[in-house]
Amino acid sequence: MVPLLRSFRRLIPHLSAAAAASSSSSAPRPISRLLPVVLAMAAYSTVSGAGAGGRLLFRQLFEKESSTYTYLLADVGDPEKPAVLIDPVDRTVDRDLNLIKELGLKLIYAMNTHVHADHVTGTGLIKTKVKGVKSVIAKAGRAKADHFIEHGDKIYFGNLFLEVRATPGHTAGCVTYVTGDGHDQPVPRMAFTGDALIIRACGRTDFQGGSSDQLYESVHSQIFTLPKDTLVYPGHDYKGFTVSTVEEELAYNPRLTKDKETFKTIMENLNLAYPTMIDVALPANLVCGIQDPPPSEV
Ligand SMILES: [Fe+2]
Repeated sequence: MVPLLRSFRRLIPHLSAAAAASSSSSAPRPISRLLPVVLAMAAYSTVSGAGAGGRLLFRQLFEKESSTYTYLLADVGDPEKPAVLIDPVDRTVDRDLNLIKELGLKLIYAMNTHVHADHVTGTGLIKTKVKGVKSVIAKAGRAKADHFIEHGDKIYFGNLFLEVRATPGHTAGCVTYVTGDGHDQPVPRMAFTGDALIIRACGRTDFQGGSSDQLYESVHSQIFTLPKDTLVYPGHDYKGFTVSTVEEELAYNPRLTKDKETFKTIMENLNLAYPTMIDVALPANLVCGIQDPPPSEV
């Protein structure tokens, strides 16, 4: 686990530098610089991160055609306000980038939880519009990206980080990103589960190397073992829910509260239609949603 973490941080040398710089810049800043962001966080953030000293700026964004959530996280305690986007959608890239610009953030990573079958990722498009942004996806996803992450890696943005937990089963390359564990990280923790765990449901397991047996193990070993107050932010929602907790899903998830054999039977009998976007989305998402432009344009 540790060597993987180190190798990832070697791949992104400024990651360590940014973390070091931000940790040394914890002196109070002029209130005129902080006030707009603090007010925005009070209005829209689900958490302000008591442990993180209010460093985390968080936004949950929605793409209505595919009912996809995109998540924006930034360390506003760092002078550069480095930010990451989780699961951006091609149709809403301009909205997301405009928000990032308005908030004065510096987008450094466009990340996916997995290779999606129901929408085209926005990561490739973002790279054509914002210089220096790197795309991130799990190595097991076998898709194109700038950085390939594995279980146990930590992805730093400023002094905050996301821990990578492998949660295969919906697809072979699914990961869950979890905010850091530590006195200087957001409390409660936040888990971005993609389609491994959806509020009161889970992603289908009949395509893309899916396995109901594997999904059950992934959720129970990697998500349900997190602190009970961990906030669960899914990749999609079709009923109007926005957030859940580990405690809630442990009590009320109608599939994953069952024993494994019952869960497998449920998943085998969902009788879902063939995914309408899969033939378009899968090939596109294997190359970041868009062919890379020539190097001179990046
Ligand atoms: Fe999916």
